[in-house]
Amino acid sequence: MAHTDLDQTAKTILIENDQGGYTIPTKGLYPYQWNWDSVFVALGFAEFDQDRAWREIEMLFQGQWRDGMVPHILFRKDDPSYFPGPSVWGTDGGPIPSSGHSQPPVAASIILDLVKSDRTGKGLERAATLLPQLMAWHRWYLIYRDPKGKGVMAVIHPWESGRDNLPDWDEALRAVEVKDIAPYERKDTSHVDPAMRPHKEDYDRYLSIVAACRKVGWDPAKVAETCPFFVADPGITFIFLRANRDLLDLAERLGKAEEAAEIRGWIGLMKAGAETLWNADLKAHVAVDQRSGQMTDGISSASFLAPYAGLRDADTLGALQDHFDRIASKVRYMMPSYDPDHRCFEHLRYWRGPVWAMINYMIARGFAEAGDTARADRLRQDTAALIQTSGFAEYFSPETGAGAGGGSFSWTAAIWLTWASPTHAQQAA
Ligand code: DGY
Repeated sequence: MAHTDLDQTAKTILIENDQGGYTIPTKGLYPYQWNWDSVFVALGFAEFDQDRAWREIEMLFQGQWRDGMVPHILFRKDDPSYFPGPSVWGTDGGPIPSSGHSQPPVAASIILDLVKSDRTGKGLERAATLLPQLMAWHRWYLIYRDPKGKGVMAVIHPWESGRDNLPDWDEALRAVEVKDIAPYERKDTSHVDPAMRPHKEDYDRYLSIVAACRKVGWDPAKVAETCPFFVADPGITFIFLRANRDLLDLAERLGKAEEAAEIRGWIGLMKAGAETLWNADLKAHVAVDQRSGQMTDGISSASFLAPYAGLRDADTLGALQDHFDRIASKVRYMMPSYDPDHRCFEHLRYWRGPVWAMINYMIARGFAEAGDTARADRLRQDTAALIQTSGFAEYFSPETGAGAGGGSFSWTAAIWLTWASPTHAQQAA
């Protein structure tokens, strides 16, 4: 299909997944508003309807909890095609029924992008309205996902990382006792080939973590203290460090000196904290179980987000470039979600190998900002080739390029429109 036809298909996907101001990731598999999906979707809408892009993010923030958390799913209406729904989560933290934890905090970064590309004349004003909500969410992350002030963000559930069944979670997840779960029927495997989804043993533990947090009433301090899963994630840490830099830019544009000073403190803390995720043997940042102290032994696509977070020293960048080239010699399409040389790599199973368009977008941005336009271009070209070959799939095999997971996927369409489409690249040139 010509790339201009794909531009049109991408727009149609966003419009058809629009539920009246917020967008579902895809029909059937994910019928609600997901946090980071929604925020990436705003980038896609911004290409043809900036007002609608802002609306997407504003509707997400309507679900913010009283304690500042912005939930990973907003259950705006009941949909039996998804499990686990609101009754399993049993939350009461905000104005809209929701799940009980958050997701990668990309919002500040994308809001800054919307402000910079604003054609409505209202961008900065809309950002000003959202600033207190962003500050509250970021404070919540720092207090409850880094209670010891180490400068790295933990996740209390693999789903909070957005990278559900990443091999990095395997060991910490195995330590979670399966208990307090009622018999249940998964819905995901009725929409998607089970070979592309997490295993039942994973689901038992996902639900056991939810049960443990429900037991303490989703009180964030108690969750941080008692949750059976508490693992520092390089993905969230780097996305959050970047988001803080972008939030600082927003606060400065808005003349908010007090907020800016507070954010500068967060950035300093996190720059130092990120070093604790550095695995010197692997020469990459990895996950660290905050309960056991155990460091993981694999490189994930999030390891390549260090430059996106602003960590661009020669040692880090050089090590990542070497890993990039080694991995590129093993797979046809970059960037697999897990190292193809690792024993846990599976090219089609969700986060254990497949390529995700929005991760490629963030990695490429970091590499380009670090001056490595060659590797950034490679990521853009591979993302475009995957979509041109296999359509707007949720994720793709790095080996064959086959599309996997859900189809007509909103964030894949959005990333096409904002970055991967040759139309966009020509305009940018
Ligand atoms: C799911 O249900 O698979 C989601 O990824 C949870 O966010």
